[in-house]
Amino acid sequence: MQISNKVSITTEDGTSTLYIEELKEVYHSRKGALTESQFVYINEGLKYWSKESSNAICKILELGYGTGLIAFLTYLNSLEIKKQIDYTSLEAYPISIIQLKELNYDQFFKDKNPIQNFEEFSKLKWELKHQIAPNFSITKKEIFFEKFKSSDLYDIIFYDAFGAHAQPEIWAPELMKKCFDILNPGGVWVSYCAKGSVRRSLKTAGFDVQRLPGPPGKREMLRGIKT
Ligand SMILES: C[S@@+](CC[C@H](N)C(=O)[O-])C[C@H]1O[C@@H](n2cnc3c(N)ncnc32)[C@H](O)[C@@H]1O
Repeated sequence: MQISNKVSITTEDGTSTLYIEELKEVYHSRKGALTESQFVYINEGLKYWSKESSNAICKILELGYGTGLIAFLTYLNSLEIKKQIDYTSLEAYPISIIQLKELNYDQFFKDKNPIQNFEEFSKLKWELKHQIAPNFSITKKEIFFEKFKSSDLYDIIFYDAFGAHAQPEIWAPELMKKCFDILNPGGVWVSYCAKGSVRRSLKTAGFDVQRLPGPPGKREMLRGIKT
C-alpha cells in the first residue's frame, strides 16, 4: 500500500483529518473526524462495554493508531468511564510528529485540561507502555495486524482500518476470526464499517452482530459481541 502523500483537510465539524492522495482515502469521516470517532468508538464501543460489564479493567486493542485521535479521545473519556483502561494500538505506517502537529487537535480539547495534551501524547515513544494517568495506560506498536501475536485477551477492539475499497485484505474473514479469538467473552468489536461481507464474516467467526445507526453521513455501522 502507498501512503506517502498525505494532506491535512478540514472536516464538517471543524476538526481536521488526513487525506491520502494515492488511495483517495481519509483517516476519518469527512462529515466530522471528532464526531465520528466519538460516536463509533467511544459511545458505541467503550461506553457500551462499560455499561454491560462489571469488570474494573478494560483492555482495548485498536487497529490502527493513525493520527491518535481515537486513542486520545479514549484517554479523555477514561476518567468519566471509571475503569482502568489498558490501551494497545497497532500501526503499520506511523505518521510523523510534524504531520500530527499540523492537525492542531489541541485547540479542540482546551477545556479538558488533560495531564497530557495531544501534542505530548503524540510524542510518546513506540513499543513502550506509558501509564499517563492513574487509570489509563497506552502502548503503541509499529506492526501489521496480520503479524500481531498476543498472549493477552482484549475486551474491546476498535477496528479502524481504511475502507474495503482501499484495503480489502484487512477485512478478510480470517482477520475477523483473529479478532474473535483475541477477545474475552463479552468482548466487543466495533467499527464504522457496515459492509455486508464484513458483517457475514463476523457472524461466521462467531460474533453476535448488531447493525447500528451510523454517525452523520453513514446510515449504519457494525458492532460484534463475543457472547
Ligand atoms: C482509518 S485510519 C485510522 C485512523 C485512526 N484510528 C485515527 O484515529 O487517526 C487506518 C489506519 O490503519 C493503519 N493500517 C493500515 N493497514 C494496517 C495493518 N495491516 N495493520 C495495522 N495498521 C494498519 C493505517 O496506516 C492507518 O493509520
